[in-house]
Amino acid sequence: MVTGAGGFIGSHLVESLVGLGASVRAFVRYNSRGDPGLLTQLPPRALERVEIFAGDLRDLAAVQAAMRDRTHVFHLGALIAIPYSYIHPAEVVETNVIGTLNVLLASRQAQVARLIHHVDQRGLWYRPAGSDRRNPSLARSIPLFGKQDRRRQNR
Ligand SMILES: NC(=O)c1ccc[n+]([C@@H]2O[C@H](COP(=O)([O-])OP(=O)(O)OC[C@H]3O[C@@H](n4cnc5c(N)ncnc54)[C@H](O)[C@@H]3O)[C@@H](O)[C@H]2O)c1
Repeated sequence: MVTGAGGFIGSHLVESLVGLGASVRAFVRYNSRGDPGLLTQLPPRALERVEIFAGDLRDLAAVQAAMRDRTHVFHLGALIAIPYSYIHPAEVVETNVIGTLNVLLASRQAQVARLIHHVDQRGLWYRPAGSDRRNPSLARSIPLFGKQDRRRQNR
């Protein structure tokens, strides 16, 4: 199963997996148009071999249902736009944090062989109070978890 299958990376991954002969269930975010996002750009021969499953990562029951009889899970579903997260922080946390928790719980329940979760290698960042985007001397971002932490862990 591939979450975020209608997105940029997910749609390419689905195409590659189909090309390798895998049975692919594509978890796409539901909308009333029945639009599977960028999967529509797959060659028809590839698309017809994909099982589309519409749902929402925030809905544990939907994620559990999508994971039934799957052996491998690629988790790419997320709200990725940082400016959007400033305006809708709750939706972003529900999707990226609770949605990921749902994928983890459903994976454990389904006893999948492997779960691959692709996250941004730059990690999580915040801009400290008092920093100013217009003043480079004050503007600095601090990683909450990222390369520096990983380097520390590897010591
Ligand atoms: N594109 C990049 O350059 C890049 C680089 C590093 C990491 N990543 C990470 O890879 C992952 C995928 O990135 P992308 O560029 O393909 O993003 P994308 O926005 O193209 O795809 C994300 C997909 O998740 C789906 N989604 C969002 N909310 C959902 C929900 N509630 N339920 C179900 N589906 C939902 C969206 O509909 C979308 O199809 C993200 O975690 C991103 O942070 C991307």
